[in-house]
Amino acid sequence: MSDRLTQLASHLNYPRGLLAGQVAIITGAGQGIGAECARLFANEGAKVVVSDIDGVKAEEVAKRIREGGGEALAVQGDLLKDEAIGELVEKAVGWGGKVNVLVNNAGFTWDGVIHKVCLSLIFVSVVVVVVVVVFWREGEGAVVLGGGVGGRC
Ligand SMILES: NC(=O)c1ccc[n+]([C@@H]2O[C@H](COP(=O)([O-])OP(=O)(O)OC[C@H]3O[C@@H](n4cnc5c(N)ncnc54)[C@H](O)[C@@H]3O)[C@@H](O)[C@H]2O)c1
Repeated sequence: MSDRLTQLASHLNYPRGLLAGQVAIITGAGQGIGAECARLFANEGAKVVVSDIDGVKAEEVAKRIREGGGEALAVQGDLLKDEAIGELVEKAVGWGGKVNVLVNNAGFTWDGVIHKVCLSLIFVSVVVVVVVVVFWREGEGAVVLGGGVGGRC
């Protein structure tokens, strides 16, 4: 390989996509912003873990991704419950072998954001802590946090 090709090799991933070979967990991916993130990540070659409290919606999103040639696994679970968080990360690692990205998006937009936000922040934090342990094992990783107007609580 020429010097120039060696230099560019890690960027020349078309048509595999910008996220080829990466595993991403997207919470709240049964609909809305999360579902669209899942579709975009899969289009860029990521193996996507579609996590949602609504298992039917999560499976629909994962099925659409697979039908489009992508790789997706639906995992149902209420992320307000500790055991669901451990289970999600375990299933993601069991299926994808690792986790590179967490898009922490779960939370109902129209659910009285101001008075529910403290609970929301707790489950956001727990998911982040559990996934960061996996990142630490892998040596790298990225977390994307979804925020909202309720963050002033
Ligand atoms: N849409 C907006 O204008 C807006 C603005 C600011 C912030 N946000 C935040 O962005 C995120 C996504 O917004 P959206 O409009 O796509 O929301 P949405 O309500 O359309 O979808 C949220 C998804 O999260 C899932 N979810 C909710 N609670 C969960 C839980 N405990 N465990 C697992 N899954 C759960 C829901 O089932 C749903 O599929 C939300 O956290 C929302 O608060 C949205």
